[in-house]
Amino acid sequence: MKILITGAAGFIGSHLCEKLLTDKNYEVTGIDTFIGPTPVGLKHMNLSSLQGHPRFTLYPIDLLTADLEKLLENVEIIYHLAAIPGVRSSWGKDFGPYVTNNIVVTQRLLEAIKNKPLIKFVYASTSSVYGEKHGKVTENTHLSPLSPYGITKLTGEHLCNVYHKSYNIPIVTLRYFTVYGPRQRPDMAFHRFITQILKDEPLTIFGDGTQSRDFTFISDCVEGTAAIINKNNVIGQTINIGGQERATINEVVSMIEELTGKKANIVYLPKITGEPKHTWADISTARNLLDYEPKISLREGLAREIEYIRSAYSI
Ligand SMILES: NC(=O)c1ccc[n+]([C@@H]2O[C@H](COP(=O)([O-])OP(=O)(O)OC[C@H]3O[C@@H](n4cnc5c(N)ncnc54)[C@H](O)[C@@H]3O)[C@@H](O)[C@H]2O)c1
Repeated sequence: MKILITGAAGFIGSHLCEKLLTDKNYEVTGIDTFIGPTPVGLKHMNLSSLQGHPRFTLYPIDLLTADLEKLLENVEIIYHLAAIPGVRSSWGKDFGPYVTNNIVVTQRLLEAIKNKPLIKFVYASTSSVYGEKHGKVTENTHLSPLSPYGITKLTGEHLCNVYHKSYNIPIVTLRYFTVYGPRQRPDMAFHRFITQILKDEPLTIFGDGTQSRDFTFISDCVEGTAAIINKNNVIGQTINIGGQERATINEVVSMIEELTGKKANIVYLPKITGEPKHTWADISTARNLLDYEPKISLREGLAREIEYIRSAYSI
């Protein structure tokens, strides 16, 4: 089976490629143009175990301009993860790349597969489409994104839905909730906190640290994502992928202090515009449709991310 993964050099994409290649029946084509918040050097590290794999091919090309016809030949499953992620930089002058890479690229891909015998097209969406909510959110909760990033990802969802309805494209939409672990993007909170504490630099928290998130460890996220291939009743569905544990940012920082054996020099900065106070996923749909069950506790996941950061930066 031939599987195409866009955003293959990224945090989630590189893990997903590795996971799928453990099945000898899968041949994986990755596409990535090495943009976004993660430095190119770290993305090459993300790919290190994939390069040279006999069933993996990477095309370092831009989906905005690539000849998609050729790339899509015989592809049966597409995981569309390529995007410019992150809330903070989606305001102001940097909005342009969010529009082109999150909306225009998605439309281009959908157009290209309109008349192809695809089995599944999986779109990576985000908890950011929900906005500010109280308690758990189900996939039917009213959507009201708080950031330009969330708007572009929700537009991608809408595009997928209209192509599903009008052209029968077999869409599955996943909404990821704050994914963390080895290779987490350097603009994300845990990556920054761990690097700062290990380097004895001030640990900078946006807001007062009482904001909470549903944190999803990368191997859980990738298990749920990969499970789609062999499930029958998922086409047209939207599915929350949340984690094993929720916590506030202050609780996470205390845990990082314990795990590193170091005291953080915490500096509180103004809160980020466009971020909700809390996120909390109802994962019943994922349980029912994908047999999804997040396994990794926050403590264990953080310990693994700390190990990764020590090794990536030699600290
Ligand atoms: N990491 C999270 O916690 C999280 C949470 C919710 C949703 N998501 C979604 O999951 C997906 C992956 O996120 P990530 O954290 O791995 O991000 P990432 O930045 O590590 O990976 C995205 C990759 O897409 C590539 N890309 C972007 N535009 C491209 C284009 N035009 N052509 C080819 N490649 C292109 C980038 O080079 C990058 O390597 C994104 O769609 C993101 O919106 C992530």
